[in-house]
Amino acid sequence: MKDLVIVGAGGFARETAAAALAGGRRVLGFVDDNPDLHGTVRSGLPVLGPVDHVTGLDADVVVCVGNPRDYTVRQRIVERLGLPTERYATVLHPSVSVGAGSTVGAGTVLLAGTVLTADVTVGAHVAVMPQVVLTHDDLVGSYATIASGVRLGGGAVLETGAYAGSGALIREGVTVGAWALVGMGSVVLHDVPSGEVWAGSPARFLKNVPTLPAAPPVPSVLERQTS
Ligand SMILES: CC(C)(COP(=O)(O)OP(=O)(O)OC[C@H]1O[C@@H](n2cnc3c(N)ncnc32)[C@H](O)[C@@H]1OP(=O)(O)O)[C@@H](O)C(=O)NCCC(=O)NCCS
Repeated sequence: MKDLVIVGAGGFARETAAAALAGGRRVLGFVDDNPDLHGTVRSGLPVLGPVDHVTGLDADVVVCVGNPRDYTVRQRIVERLGLPTERYATVLHPSVSVGAGSTVGAGTVLLAGTVLTADVTVGAHVAVMPQVVLTHDDLVGSYATIASGVRLGGGAVLETGAYAGSGALIREGVTVGAWALVGMGSVVLHDVPSGEVWAGSPARFLKNVPTLPAAPPVPSVLERQTS
């Protein structure tokens, strides 16, 4: 296992560092474009410099930026860096359970206690927070974000960049469209169109996502993988 450098130094970045360290990986530190952080120590690890510093390092990379107000930033940074796929690590906390037939893409992070039961496909640069349960035949597109405690019924789909807020429950076979957001605690019974924010129990349309990013540069995983 190569050393790891983490892009970002916020909450999810530090959680990812903890997961990587728990898995026995050496973490060199963080890179972040906030100059005030350079030379500081976060969660016991140094902030090494700006984001573009990773290009010259002999280390694997994972991009750990974003929040519910801007969850498209991860894609923007991956595009900006233009690194080959093989530079990206997949970080799984050692307590994660990945069931038979499941695949997890490059640059994706699964935090503690997450379970992929069977035949789950998770794309690239996906952020999965603790105690998420993805069940049989679920598909999670690249750049999706899944907050803690989310549960997906069988055959559910989160398209590219979709955001599932903490504790959301998504009914079997339901699709959350590209860059759509489902609010925390929502019970999602019907398909959510791309670019819309839905919330509540049952979840209903709240508003449109203000700005949608362009199509992602990586292939979608929204075709079931055969293995
Ligand atoms: C859905 C969400 C994006 C809406 O945020 P917002 O645009 O700032 O909306 P507001 O807080 O102004 O709320 C607007 C309305 O929606 C309701 N609402 C907001 N979030 C809701 C939710 N999760 N469930 C039910 N209703 C919700 C509010 O009560 C309010 O209703 P009102 O107009 O009748 O008073 C946000 O509440 C949310 O759930 N974000 C995800 C947070 C998360 O999971 N974080 C974890 C990672 S750190």
